[in-house]
Amino acid sequence: MSIITMATTKGGAGKTTVAQMIIGAVHQLGYSIGVIDCDANCSLSNWLNEISDMAIDVQKVHDESKIVSEARKMNRKHDMVIIDTAGAQSQATLFAIGCADLVLIPVQLSNSDVIEAIKTHKLVESAGELAGREIPHRVVYTDYTPKTNIAKQVRKKIRKNGLDAMDTRLHHLVAYKELTFTGKIPKKGTAAAQGQLLVQEVFQMGHLPFMYEYAQAS
Ligand SMILES: Nc1ncnc2c1ncn2[C@@H]1O[C@H](COP(=O)(O)OP(=O)(O)OP(=O)(O)O)[C@@H](O)[C@H]1O
Ligand SMILES: [Mg+2]
Repeated sequence: MSIITMATTKGGAGKTTVAQMIIGAVHQLGYSIGVIDCDANCSLSNWLNEISDMAIDVQKVHDESKIVSEARKMNRKHDMVIIDTAGAQSQATLFAIGCADLVLIPVQLSNSDVIEAIKTHKLVESAGELAGREIPHRVVYTDYTPKTNIAKQVRKKIRKNGLDAMDTRLHHLVAYKELTFTGKIPKKGTAAAQGQLLVQEVFQMGHLPFMYEYAQAS
C-alpha cells in the first residue's frame, strides 16, 4: 500500500537504522511488511533474517532492473514496503526512488551528509520528472544532538536548499546501535517513542492507510 525508500548517496547516514525503526514500529502494530534490500552489503536483510525475530518478507534485489517489479509485487501483498539502498549514487537507487510513495533521506550532523542529501534531493526530482509525478521526499535527522550549533547549521543549510525535513528526529542514542546486535526494536524509552512518532508522521503525510484502521480499532 505504501512504498517507502531510504536513500542518500552518503554512506553511513542512517538509512538502515531508519528502516529498522519504521519496520519495528509497524510490526508492533501487527501489520505486514515487505522489505527489498538493494544494498550489496545486505545489512538490513541479514539483520532481519539472522538477528531479528520479526517474521518479515525480505527480498535481496541486486539486479536493478528487477527493483520496480519486485516492489510492486510486494506492495500488492503487504501493508507497507520498505526499500533500503546502498550509500552511493547508482541506477538501483534511482529505481528505488522512482517507485516510491515516499523517500526518506537520512542526514547526520555533518556537512558531507548535507551535500549528499542535496544530491539525493536532485535525484528524487529528476526521477519524478521521469515518472511524471512528484515523489514526496523528506530529510530525517539521525544521530541527532538537539540544541547544538551544528544541528542549527545543518538544519539551516537543508532548508536553504529547498529540502523539507520530518519533525521527528532520531537522537544520538545507544539504543539505535544496540538493536543491531540484539535484533530487538526498543519497546519503551526515547528510541521507541521516536520510531512510533516517525511512523505517525508518515501516516499524517497521507501514507500508510492501514493506520486509519488501527486508529479506529484502538
Ligand atoms: N540515532 C542514532 N544514534 C546512534 N547511532 C546511530 C543513529 N543512527 C544511526 N546510528 C549508527 O550509525 C551507523 C550507520 O547507520 P546505518 O547503518 O543505519 O547507516 P546507512 O546509511 O544504512 O549506512 P550504509 O550506507 O553503509 O548502508 C550505525 O552504526 C548505526 O548504529
Ligand atoms: Mg545501510
